Amino acid sequence: MRRKLLLGNWKMNKTSGEAKEFALASRELVELASKNNIDIGVAPTYLSLAAVKENADKRMIVAAQNCHFKESGAYTGEISIPMLKEFGIDWVLIGHSERRAYDNETNKKCHDKIEALLANDMVPVYCVGETLAEFDAGDTKKVVSAQVKEGLEGFTAEQVKRLVIAYEPVWSIGTGKNASTEIAQDVCGYIRSLLRELFGEVAEEIRVLYGGSVKPENIKAYLSCPDIDGGLVGGASLKIDSYSGLLTNIL
Ligand code: PGA
Repeated sequence: MRRKLLLGNWKMNKTSGEAKEFALASRELVELASKNNIDIGVAPTYLSLAAVKENADKRMIVAAQNCHFKESGAYTGEISIPMLKEFGIDWVLIGHSERRAYDNETNKKCHDKIEALLANDMVPVYCVGETLAEFDAGDTKKVVSAQVKEGLEGFTAEQVKRLVIAYEPVWSIGTGKNASTEIAQDVCGYIRSLLRELFGEVAEEIRVLYGGSVKPENIKAYLSCPDIDGGLVGGASLKIDSYSGLLTNIL
């Protein structure tokens, strides 16, 4: 049985003071989630990771939004896995479409980061999804298949057990244009079938999230789909009331 997972992606939002305020306000929600066997978390900016880690309930998942795959070296502006681990961070988003679009994050780069994270007992949340042009051309599954296969190439079933995959159609991120539950389930089910093909039965344990304009009003419909185990939520995760709505609507 896969545990439901609600993850907020704060992107480049919130100062660490604002993050601390949210973390303190979220304590009761983490308690409520835990009682209902739901995992919840947020991915703040690097500079706010400590503020959330120190002020939220200890069960709150705190994820970084990126990392470098090398341990250290001449990579100006980058943050390595040991640096995150020192702060108790063991979840990292990888390959978010904004990073793919603006920071040249290729499937190969994602692969190297996932490999380094798995070697360090961390949890990668690997984001995949097609652009509007690819969706319109009917290429969704072709694109997602390449992202999954190239991103996870060469790993063993044992290694990918901890992995989380987030399907986020680029055309639905921050646009208010949701993928229908039929589309979301179809692609998430397809991702699970790819995982089965690549890694066998462990595919039943890997959580697949949907992301893209998820709101308190629509989250329940997505999570009612058999292959959708949770949500990766941007805009609607920023305010505590809305974050609370996301959780209470899936209890
Ligand atoms: P959104 O973002 O919920 O604001 O559409 C989702 C994401 O980018 O993870």
